[in-house]
Amino acid sequence: MSIQIPKGLYDIVPYSEKEKWKLIDYWHYVEKILHKLSNDYNYKEIRTPIFERTELFERGVGQATDVVSKEMYTFKDKAERLMSLRPEGTASLMRAFIENNFASYSQKHKLYYFGPMFRYDRPQKGRFRQFYQYGAEAVGDPSEEQDVEIIDMLHELYQRLGLKDLVLHINYIGQANTRNSFKEELKKYLKPHLNDLSKESQDRFIKNPMRILDSKDERDIKILENAPNILEFITNEDEESFKKICNLLSHLKIPYKINNKLVRGLDYYNKTVFEITSSYLGAQNALGGGGRYDSLLKEFNGPNLPAIGYAVGIERILQTMIAQGIKVEDLNNPFIFIIPLGEKSKNYSFTLISSLRKNRIPCDIDFNAKKIQKSLQIANKCNAKYVIIIGDDEMDKKKLKIKNMEKRTEEEVKFDTLIYHIKTLYKAG
Ligand code: HAM
Repeated sequence: MSIQIPKGLYDIVPYSEKEKWKLIDYWHYVEKILHKLSNDYNYKEIRTPIFERTELFERGVGQATDVVSKEMYTFKDKAERLMSLRPEGTASLMRAFIENNFASYSQKHKLYYFGPMFRYDRPQKGRFRQFYQYGAEAVGDPSEEQDVEIIDMLHELYQRLGLKDLVLHINYIGQANTRNSFKEELKKYLKPHLNDLSKESQDRFIKNPMRILDSKDERDIKILENAPNILEFITNEDEESFKKICNLLSHLKIPYKINNKLVRGLDYYNKTVFEITSSYLGAQNALGGGGRYDSLLKEFNGPNLPAIGYAVGIERILQTMIAQGIKVEDLNNPFIFIIPLGEKSKNYSFTLISSLRKNRIPCDIDFNAKKIQKSLQIANKCNAKYVIIIGDDEMDKKKLKIKNMEKRTEEEVKFDTLIYHIKTLYKAG
């Protein structure tokens, strides 16, 4: 039997009729938008390794979280040190922040990352064991304006991608002591219902009771209907802060929904948390999420700087784009496809394609062209925009026809103005 890809993984490929979200051109398109967006908001890229010491995630993300306790790919290296494939990017970024002494350059930093993350969970639609995240993190600014800038950036990302019907959920989970007293109240409320809760929520009752609020189980949802509301536990100062954030969001005309049951699955959050959901994704409906994590740097023995950020799942973005019929226009197809017929033409075509490439025009050639129809099929398959057929007649007359494959039109061009002509066409798009 041939060797198959491990469960929950997939290839990003140049061709796929059925699963367009796997197409590399789509990935390049989204990546280009992400880099431009980051640049427009003045976020700088950072690249960290894909594995780290396990302890980093245990201390950063939290030992009681599902991500760390159940989903990490952990292994011992040859020196018996425990390492884990990164399940997310924030902990690694904060480690790198401290290790590279970023705070000595400035007190404020805006950073972004793009790369694969790993979580061992049951694969299903929109849930993979290796998946890509883009994330942005703003360090050093405790202001509400910073919260809103981050959410605005996430909102703008979806606008640029053309995504529709998304919901921004927002909540405020306050400081550690707020959450501690809330947890106690929540447990008091849930205790009489303990046996009726789902198995997963029963497990969480001791380890991580606030995550019960996130449950998607119908029975749990019913029981939670009258559960205590964290927004009634936050301090007056936090209440003011949350109001300010909501007002600023309204001011920027960013629609949001206050969701007092949103708690997020990672332990480092405090104050503002948010998530974006899409109804096109089924159970795994979160396209992205994030929040404030003001104590993480300190937790790692770094500078006492506040921070806020988010991450989005690229597979889920692409799947939603496809489901919503969003066209990706910026495809990396050849602009010109050359079909040389005969030896004389081959030599000329070889020089031509070489100089087109030196002029940075994407192009390709069928070196083995014999039958025009066959070569045209190849040109069509690779979605070439224009085709040039060069036979003996063209070589004798020193002019040829450039065929527009989309519009089915053609125009005649002389050899000596050919490169200039193609460059003009290319610039015009
Ligand atoms: P997260 O909510 O765990 O947050 O993940 C962010 C996004 O990654 C999710 O909304 C989802 O789109 C995608 N994602 C997560 N797990 C999977 C999976 N198994 N398969 C496919 N996509 C997945 C974080 O990771 C935080 N580090 C975000 C953050 C940054 N908070 C502050 N800064």
